[in-house]
This record gives sequence, C-alpha cells and structure tokens, in this order.
Amino acid sequence: MINNAQPPIYEEGLEELMQELKGKYHATNDYRWAILNSDITFITVGTPSKPDGSIDLTHVKQAAKSIGKALRDKEDYHVVVVKSTVLPGTTEEVVKPILEKHSGKKAFKDFGLAMNPEFLREGVALKDFLNPDRIVLGVQDEKTKKILEELYEPINAPKLIVDIKTAEMIKYASNAFLATKISFANEIGNICKKLGIDSWKVFEGVGLDHRISPHFFKTGIGFGGSCFPKDVKALIKKAEEIGENPLILKAVIEVNERQPLKMIELLKKHIPELKGRKIGVLGLAFKPNTDDVRETRAYIIIKKLLEEGASVIAYDPKAMENFKRFYPDVSGGIEYATSPEDVLKSTEIILIVTEWPDFEELDYSGKIVIDGRRIKAAERTARIYEGVCW
Ligand code: UGA
Repeated sequence: MINNAQPPIYEEGLEELMQELKGKYHATNDYRWAILNSDITFITVGTPSKPDGSIDLTHVKQAAKSIGKALRDKEDYHVVVVKSTVLPGTTEEVVKPILEKHSGKKAFKDFGLAMNPEFLREGVALKDFLNPDRIVLGVQDEKTKKILEELYEPINAPKLIVDIKTAEMIKYASNAFLATKISFANEIGNICKKLGIDSWKVFEGVGLDHRISPHFFKTGIGFGGSCFPKDVKALIKKAEEIGENPLILKAVIEVNERQPLKMIELLKKHIPELKGRKIGVLGLAFKPNTDDVRETRAYIIIKKLLEEGASVIAYDPKAMENFKRFYPDVSGGIEYATSPEDVLKSTEIILIVTEWPDFEELDYSGKIVIDGRRIKAAERTARIYEGVCW
C-alpha cells in the first residue's frame, strides 16, 4: 500500500504527500536491504500497554533483533534511533544489548544509537512534524550527534541535546503534563457545572496567564487515544516499580475514567429510564480528523448505554470501520448511520462524543443534546442542551 502511495491510516494531507513523493521513497520488509542502503534507521513501532498497564516492548525488541542481524554486514557507520515512546533506560538497557548481540558490534563505537522522541498529534501530524516546537535528541557519542543534527538541520526549531535517558523521560513528562492539564480542567469543570459557571470562560481567563497558556484546557469527556492513557499508566507502573507512589498521575487517570460517564448521568437527568430508548451518538474516533478509535470515550459511553438497555445509532465520518473491528463486543448492538443527518432523523436524543467539524453544520432543533465537546451549533439550536462540564 505504501509503495502505491496508499496510506494505511487516515491522516490529513498524507495521501497527497505520498502521491507527490511516489517513487522517491521505498517501503520494504527486507531489513538487510534497507539498512545496507541507508545511514539511519528509526525504530517507530508501537509500545502498547499490557493488561496491567505496564509497557509492552515486544515490537521494539523484535525490531532491534532484526536491525542487529542486518547491521552485521554494514560497513559504514549506521545510526539506530529509537523514536518509539519507551520508558527511561529502555534504549540503553534493552535495545542496546539486543543490537550488540545480533550484530556482534559495539554501540557508540561501531554503530550509533540515539533516542529522539516524537511529539506529533494525530490529525495534524504532518504539520507538527514540519513545524515542531522543539526537537529533542538523546545522544551519547559525538558522531551520532553530528549525523542527527545534520538530518534535522532543515527544520527550524530549537534543538535540545540531552542524554538518552533524559530524552526518554521528556516524552513521558510532556504527555503526563498534557494529560494532567486536561484532567485538572475537567475536575474544575465538574465543580463549575454544579455552580452554574461556564468552565470554558474560566479557562479562557486562566489561560491568559503566560505562565499557564490557554491550550489543552478543553473540558468535556476526557482524553482518549493511543498515547495519553497508555503513557500515563506506564509511567505509574515504572514509578511504583522503583518505590514511588505517583498520586497526581493516578488521579489523572481516575478523573479521566469517570468523565465519559458524566454524560450518561446528565442524560438521565432528562430521561431517567434509558431502557428501550434509541440514542444517537455522533463521533466514534478519539478526536476529529483521524480514524483512530483506540481508548475512545465513545466505547465507554456506548457500552454503558447498551448495559442500560438503550439502543444506539452512531455515525462517524472516518472511524466506523475501525470501531467495528476494535470493539466487536458492543458493535453488534449498534446501528451505523450513513450520515449525521440520519442520526438526527431517527432519534431526538443525541450525544456528541467527537467534535468533527461536520457536526457544527447540523440543526439540532427539537433535540435533547448532551455535548461532550462543545459544538456551538448544538448549544444554539437544541431544545434541551447540556454540556458535560459547562
Ligand atoms: C498526544 C500529544 O498531544 C502529542 O504531543 C504526542 O506526540 C502524542 O500524544 C503521542 O504521544 O504520540 P494525540 O493523542 O494524537 O497526541 O492527540 P491530542 O490532540 O493530544 O488529544 C488527545 C486526547 O485529549 C483527545 O481525546 C482529545 O479529545 C483530548 N483533549 C485534548 C481534551 O479532552 N481536551 C483538550 O484540551 C485537549
């Protein structure tokens, strides 16, 4: 698919870029060929959570083994860069020994090794890659440092050079802080809701303080996605392993798990008995402009609705296929609509889960809307409108 310029995921601008560059890049599953014909290898595989929240390094280890074997025959200095999100110590204590064992060579002497975390957001990944706030390079040897500085030279952004462990930790601390900001905002938002205060206005005021910044204060049903929940949980596990008790991080997860259920609480204020009712759900992706449904709040909400005996009609512009595949346990109970208008036509009860721009175009007159993401059109036009935290 990649060689045919077909992105296997939906990401804005990616297909156009791949079409433009078709023939100038080459995807292969032949490690040896790839490494003999290049100077740098990035390890970009996933680092999912195990059921207990700890990090699963299976893919990282497999990649390191295959790269190590291929490095045996490489004569020029080749640099291996870990871009996958890995806990502090992983590059040096897990990746390095595997590379050395299978290549028969020494890191930092016969080949380079570095850690270079990514800070891309899904949906705006291309933009984030080309205009990053910073580039963090975790390096040990001078030669690797030079090669990576040269690689990133065309990108105009502050470059922070640190040791490998620090680079690994910068990634976790960044994601944990952003997740904390959201859970903090939601906690204040829940208090605001009870007091009749608009939390979005509150955070507009708070964010004007340049020490705080206005971003990542959107209150609602909490964060999903493949990064925040898994990274915060992995950091908690690691902290506990080394004898720490990370109270704030634990609360960040707890607030986030409670948050989507607030939607159902609010709905029940208006419709106490959900059994037999048809509920419309707008949005299944964990955020707009992506087809990714990992840790989406939609799953928690739909599961609860089905448990309460309601039926669900759902629509998402890009994520319906993925949702069916990822969540077969609830998918059987969902009717998938062909448009958001269809959802509005078939029920008067609407839950807004993802803030796709398409949902701003709708007329919600006559509807009971519980909004998890603050869609202005719904706020303006619905018969009954409730925002989760505002
Ligand atoms: C996040 C980080 O923002 C990236 O910097 C990081 O590189 C990435 O994780 C990663 O580790 O790979 P991403 O998960 O793609 O990126 O998306 P975000 O835009 O951060 O949104 C995450 C979740 O937080 C979404 O469910 C979103 O709806 C929610 N969110 C975000 C809020 O509820 N409120 C906000 O104010 C912002």
